[in-house]
Amino acid sequence: MSSKKYITTPIYYVNDVPHIGHAYTTIIADSAARYFRLKGYDTFFLTGTDEHGQKIEEAAKKRGKSPKEYADEISAKFKKLWDEFEISYDKFIRTTDEEHIKGVQKAFEIMYNKGDIYKGEYEGHYCISCEAFFPESQLIDNEFCPDCGKATRIVKEESYFFRLSKYQDRLLELYKNEEEFILPKSKKNEVIRFVEGGLEDLSITRTSFDWGVKLPPSINDPKHVMYVWLDALLNYITALGYGGDEHLMHYWPADYHLVGKDILRFHAVYWPAFLMSLGLDMPKHIATHGWWTRNGEKMSKSKGNVVDPKTVADAYGLENFRYFLLREVPFGQDGDFSQKALIDRINSDLGNDLGNLLNRVIGMSGKYFDFNIKSSDVERYYKDELNEVKKIISGLDELVTKMRWHKFLEELWKILTIANKSIDRYAPWNLMKEQKEEEAMALIALIANILAKTALLLHPVMPKTTEKIADALGFKIDEASFKRFVDDFEMLDEFKIKKVPPLFPKIEEPLMKEASKEEKKSVLDNKTFEDNIITIDEFFKVQIKVGTVIEAEEVKKSKKLLKLKVDLNEERPRQIVAGIKEHYSPAELLGMQVCVVSNLLPAKLMGIKSEGMILAAKDEEGLTLISPQRKVKEGTPVK
Ligand code: MSP
Repeated sequence: MSSKKYITTPIYYVNDVPHIGHAYTTIIADSAARYFRLKGYDTFFLTGTDEHGQKIEEAAKKRGKSPKEYADEISAKFKKLWDEFEISYDKFIRTTDEEHIKGVQKAFEIMYNKGDIYKGEYEGHYCISCEAFFPESQLIDNEFCPDCGKATRIVKEESYFFRLSKYQDRLLELYKNEEEFILPKSKKNEVIRFVEGGLEDLSITRTSFDWGVKLPPSINDPKHVMYVWLDALLNYITALGYGGDEHLMHYWPADYHLVGKDILRFHAVYWPAFLMSLGLDMPKHIATHGWWTRNGEKMSKSKGNVVDPKTVADAYGLENFRYFLLREVPFGQDGDFSQKALIDRINSDLGNDLGNLLNRVIGMSGKYFDFNIKSSDVERYYKDELNEVKKIISGLDELVTKMRWHKFLEELWKILTIANKSIDRYAPWNLMKEQKEEEAMALIALIANILAKTALLLHPVMPKTTEKIADALGFKIDEASFKRFVDDFEMLDEFKIKKVPPLFPKIEEPLMKEASKEEKKSVLDNKTFEDNIITIDEFFKVQIKVGTVIEAEEVKKSKKLLKLKVDLNEERPRQIVAGIKEHYSPAELLGMQVCVVSNLLPAKLMGIKSEGMILAAKDEEGLTLISPQRKVKEGTPVK
């Protein structure tokens, strides 16, 4: 068995400040890293920031900063948060690091020399937000990105391609042979379906912007920068020194790449293919979690429904929050964040089941035995309970190795239930009355042992809280005690119990009453509200003019599109393709005045050129076009 574990989080885009989704991935990875360290594995835990690409270039420009200045600022915010959250990463990589860039260039060169990269031309629908091209067949209504729903742009450019198609069979073999390559297994089929659908070669360079890694000097093609996903995925090996001194490469292959479901395909298809091309081993697991939602909707800044992880941790306690994130949602599924759910977990699981149990042990040991518990009779009196506990504990490691943290905690809590029930059933106060002191002492020792094992097993999720439990019981949490009391199921014969203040005071009401106001305030303070504060000059870059619809017809085979001719008082009418067919018939549009964004780069929708965009508002009742309140001259600017 390998004695090392290499665990990674995705590297976070610096176009956004950290939110609960980012915290979730990082906390799972951190818990895993802490677990494996406690088990004695030589563990390397990597996180960092993804700083290149058009999206970042544009976000920086919006704020009047250079991409590097902007990336420095946001990357520092991620690092600061992870430090405040005591995330135990071993390395924080930035894709603007010199060594990373060198490693990426080296990898490109190797793939190129092998014949896996060639030069060609690309034309396709590109989503800037996802930094990805999508075939027409995958677009929503022939225009919108299937992942994020935003409008795609047609991009045509000279590009280098990676021969992804060449690896189709080997990828399918990988999924077949490595049963647990994708975790949870339920996510595997969608990847297989995607690959079976046929893999096209992947465009891996761009010429339309600058903010990216240049091609290696040996290829000498300065127009191109690398596709951000190629650059980003390679972080998992450049962080180990790939292409440089390689001093950490013994950690490769990764044991767990933690990823959200939106980036599974990049990790389960492109990444293994790149690695095959480089002749490197495959990662062991791509562990895929679901999304945190708010009232059923994915959190995003533009919807204004993001939960700031720092606010939650400050209000409810960092470790309670960690427990909640891991316990609340089965790994791989989506989960809805609410204060109510968080409070229930804290009051019920942590307060009632765990905290009260500790209080009972402290109370009873003080009352009956002056805080000294010494017994080697636990097995003699409580064999059945011990066997049950042993059985549950023996199944826990497998749950961690599959990243099933929710199940792990659920099972772990079963041993607390056994402990709580044993107290009620054997009633130590009666045993004492009946002068069965040995039995009463053994019962308290049973409970204290269950608590000790719980503290050891829960330590990766709640490091400080469990240290406090260990301190109250008089033992230390370390690798040696994990081996003895969990792996080998030894019992502690002696406890010197200490009184400690309650670990989980009851929460009576939501502690983040002002959360949404505060969130908005902090967003405004950072001038990032809605991610799109602009200056008046920037606003005036958008030219909006009033025009009159003079022709309107349906676009065949499209559910949503109409083709219009709009008179803007120019030398000829504009042709505009608009997604309004479900709301307006061609006849009712004729003669109507509309507002047109007139200086938008023309785009093609279903192969038809569109030379502007019509403004509309959409709510639950449907879509309505924006029209001046009285008829104005065609071409009148809107300001
Ligand atoms: N930069 C890429 C990853 C490159 S890895 C080689 C990226 N970055 S990201 O910042 O957009 O997202 C990082 C992670 O956060 C992803 O795993 C994503 O799934 C996760 N989350 C972002 N929003 C989320 C929720 N609302 N809920 C849970 N996790 C989600 O993708």
